[in-house]
Amino acid sequence: MEEPLCSLLLVLILFVSGDAVNPGCDCLQYSETYGKEYGTFNSPDYPRPYPANINCLLYTFIADIEEIVEITFKDFDVYKTHLDCIGGDFLKIFLHLEKPEVDEYTNWSGLLCGGYSDVPAVLYSSGPVLILEFHTTDASSNATGFIGTFRFIDRRTFRTDGQKLPGTICDYQFISSNHTLNHGRFYSPRYPSNYPQNIKCAYRFRARATERIRIVFEEVTLQKGDVSCLNRADVIKVHDGRSAVSPTIRVVCNEASALEVLSTGPDLFIEFLADSEWPGQGFKAAFQFQPLLLETTPQTEAETSADVVVEKPGPPAVQKQTADLIPSVSATSCCSCRSAEYKEDGNVPVIPANCDVVVTSDGVKNGSVASPGYPGPYPARTSCRYDFQGRGKERVQVFFTDFSLYHPTDDSKECESIDSLMAYVLIDGRMEKIDNFCGSTLPRPLMSNGPRLMLEFRGIYSSRQSRGFRAVYSFTENFGVQSGQQAPDLPCAFVFNSTEANEGIFHSPNFPGFYPRDTECHYFFNGQTGQRVKLNFNYFDVEGVLPCEAISASDYVEFSNFMARDRKYSRHCGQLQEFSVESDRKFFRVTFRSNDRLDGTGFNASYQFLDQEDIPTSVRPTERTGHSSTLTIGPISHPTLILIILLVISVFK
Ligand SMILES: *[C@@H]1O[C@H](CO)[C@@H](O)[C@H](O)[C@H]1NC(C)=O
Ligand SMILES: *[C@@H]1O[C@H](CO)[C@@H](O)[C@H](O)[C@H]1NC(C)=O
Ligand SMILES: *[C@@H]1O[C@H](CO)[C@@H](O)[C@H](O)[C@H]1NC(C)=O
Ligand SMILES: *[C@@H]1O[C@H](CO)[C@@H](O)[C@H](O)[C@H]1NC(C)=O
Ligand SMILES: *[C@@H]1O[C@H](CO)[C@@H](O)[C@H](O)[C@H]1NC(C)=O
Ligand SMILES: *[C@@H]1O[C@H](CO)[C@@H](O)[C@H](O)[C@H]1NC(C)=O
Repeated sequence: MEEPLCSLLLVLILFVSGDAVNPGCDCLQYSETYGKEYGTFNSPDYPRPYPANINCLLYTFIADIEEIVEITFKDFDVYKTHLDCIGGDFLKIFLHLEKPEVDEYTNWSGLLCGGYSDVPAVLYSSGPVLILEFHTTDASSNATGFIGTFRFIDRRTFRTDGQKLPGTICDYQFISSNHTLNHGRFYSPRYPSNYPQNIKCAYRFRARATERIRIVFEEVTLQKGDVSCLNRADVIKVHDGRSAVSPTIRVVCNEASALEVLSTGPDLFIEFLADSEWPGQGFKAAFQFQPLLLETTPQTEAETSADVVVEKPGPPAVQKQTADLIPSVSATSCCSCRSAEYKEDGNVPVIPANCDVVVTSDGVKNGSVASPGYPGPYPARTSCRYDFQGRGKERVQVFFTDFSLYHPTDDSKECESIDSLMAYVLIDGRMEKIDNFCGSTLPRPLMSNGPRLMLEFRGIYSSRQSRGFRAVYSFTENFGVQSGQQAPDLPCAFVFNSTEANEGIFHSPNFPGFYPRDTECHYFFNGQTGQRVKLNFNYFDVEGVLPCEAISASDYVEFSNFMARDRKYSRHCGQLQEFSVESDRKFFRVTFRSNDRLDGTGFNASYQFLDQEDIPTSVRPTERTGHSSTLTIGPISHPTLILIILLVISVFK
């Protein structure tokens, strides 16, 4: 009962009629929350339908000079007559104002209309002023309008902890020294408000020789959707070195959260390029200069020993530092159950002194791990963790060579409360279980979605026949794809030139194992003039449902005759029978993209470059009919094609 009264008071007190600055507008001004954390605002008559013919009603929020305005809609219902809102009822928003004034020439940041799901729930100003301008037409609707809360927050919360380079808009450097903190934060320009259009920012990190750089992108909100990063105007690119020509280890577009990147050496270079018409919120990220884990195990031993490569016992230093950046990493339930189990029955556990292992890629890039006592039986009540930590572009790949765990019925599907091996990767800042293996079926190969993977072995019962498991691991930069030439300027891209080979095979990352999550891979085919490429997919299992879009949380495979998206081909997902795809000309692109949910086993395909005259003429007419049925845009003329190519080139410059 208190709140409506309060806002009614505000309305009464502050309802001043239009002044010189905003002629014809009625104004509501909010500059106080009167000791409360939030204030409220609402459309006239809310929750009853708002009146027709509101020519201009301004909601002006004014914070202190060091503050920004946050508004949160609790309800939103503005009658939508036009797709782009203009012409009907709408709420115009101004986020980037110098002064608490607007007129008809002021640039606005967006127009809102429709229901609650059509509008962003939260809006931030970049300066101390935010203005909403409400218009309604003479057509009376029963729409109820909006209600929301506002508050003022200290803009220094979003200060980047680096040195801004003089003469630049948003270039920063972060240098590790005795006089600086070894961790901090950085943000896209104007964060948490939307970033400006047409900007290019650089964040240059320089660690000491004994350190590496760890970045966690906590929230990334660029453009919505699941379009491949190749075709995005707003992207973040992470380079493993000093500049933009260093190998690209991660490209982020659309949206992401808790994404971790580790540099290989002491340098890391991050570019943020924004060129879209409707900028998103941007990103917030944390950085850390992390001491290298110095290898203590002699490398020769690691290579020759078929057994466990033990580094330092106990929780490694990395984990401690990880904890303050992502608290839930070290607090996963998986890792605390062992000690609890022992305390319960009070027995002295019959396991090796310490079977927990940390394997980093700083030394050797491959090796093997096995259960305690392998190939003999493992002791009952064994619990071991194998923590793999790669860096840069590396992914962790694990191939099982032997698998034999005690199981009363040998049903590999029923793995609860029985001897089992679990695999975890980092998803949304938490170590999430992606698989659970038991019995004696050899698991498929595993691959991490980022630099880390953890295996947890729980041998609860054991038996004389249980050998345990053995696996070969590698820190790989090629995603398990052995064919083609890997391109250095994208995290996962492979080039197939007809000058190198006229035919061959290619497959999804980690095939025939489950493909990793949050991964985008490209396969580029370059024929010679007059050639086309024919692809034959003999295996296809990509998690998703038609039309393979973000809304159904689908992973997908996309085909294109260009770098840009090609509407001639629909996206592919699901479990498909063998099929073929052909290019129109000498260039063809295949893009695979997975999200952070559910995995499939991917695809296996062969390619063949065909000379035009090799193509049986009977194929062409059928293919043409195929065209017209799937075409949504007309045939692309040469000038348009050139324009598209130029556009794509300019986006990637
Ligand atoms: C409005 O936006 C245009 C293009 O983005 C820009 O050129 C112009 O200077 C802006 N006007 C004001 C008043 O900021
Ligand atoms: C508004 O609601 C009234 C009563 O429920 C109804 O008669 C009228 O047609 C509605 N008007 C619109 C524009 O939906
Ligand atoms: C930084 O600190 C280390 C150890 O405390 C010291 O040896 C080194 O000289 C210092 N470097 C600088 C540039 O002050
Ligand atoms: C590690 O890789 C090297 C080179 O590729 C290979 O010769 C060696 O057998 C591998 N070691 C293991 C344990 O797989
Ligand atoms: C493949 O072909 C492209 C374009 O024809 C060329 O730029 C590139 O250098 C070639 N790459 C290799 C590895 O042959
Ligand atoms: C992948 O396809 C190729 C030929 O297209 C075939 O030789 C190979 O055995 C397949 N691999 C798997 C694991 O099915």
